[in-house]
Amino acid sequence: MELIAGDKELEALNAQLDDPNQLQAYKTPHDNYHPLFLPRLLGRVLVGCGNLVYGHEPSYLKFRSIEIVARVPYQSWSSAVYTLLTMFYADEHKAIRFSNVSRYARIAQDNETMHVVVISQLARTEGRAGLIRHTLLPMFFAFFYFWASYILYLMRPRWSFELNYLFEQHAFDQYNRFLEQYREELKKKPAESEFLTWYGRNPRSQFEFFQSVRNDELIHRNQSVRAVNTEADAYRVHSLKFVAIGAVIVLLVLILI
Ligand SMILES: [Fe+2]
Ligand SMILES: [Fe+2]
Repeated sequence: MELIAGDKELEALNAQLDDPNQLQAYKTPHDNYHPLFLPRLLGRVLVGCGNLVYGHEPSYLKFRSIEIVARVPYQSWSSAVYTLLTMFYADEHKAIRFSNVSRYARIAQDNETMHVVVISQLARTEGRAGLIRHTLLPMFFAFFYFWASYILYLMRPRWSFELNYLFEQHAFDQYNRFLEQYREELKKKPAESEFLTWYGRNPRSQFEFFQSVRNDELIHRNQSVRAVNTEADAYRVHSLKFVAIGAVIVLLVLILI
């Protein structure tokens, strides 16, 4: 199976966002998006737990943990639409909509994978990652985030997209802050990574690399709002509430035994 490297259209948009005016113009329209109560609550818990464990200030090791968790909603959307296609393959219109979500989710998964791989390499020289705090805990968060995102998607896709909007907003804010705080220092540090070259990005410094990651997170954030507006409830299937409730019960039983 051929792996998909960085999507050309997204790469071009990412490069445009290096310009502060273009960044502002792209960002502002979705800055005041107001998610519904449930994603807001879950978003607060997720971001709050992250801040509690890794601190409010950005750091290489915090980014490493964020990126382990950030990949999973896209994987959960791929899995959710795969589940839905098992039921609705006979409806071509639905199949196209699901396949569009799946295609975008795949591109975003690869992009987030690039973030976690490259940041893990860069973090090695900045500090030692703890087994529990920086490896096991993010895996634990990722496990629950995956299932929360999957179940929310089946129950009401809008909830899942809005939760992702909040998480991506947090990621964008953290990278932006990091760039502001360490601008000159980062410009002097190289961002060498075999994986990054394979992906198709060749930043001249860590500043350029983190700037491109910040832009990715903003694109992900805006795409989530766009998905709410164009996709979210267009294929809401009410009977799937029962499937999702069943999945929640199974998950709870698995946790308790
Ligand atoms: Fe990311
Ligand atoms: Fe992201």
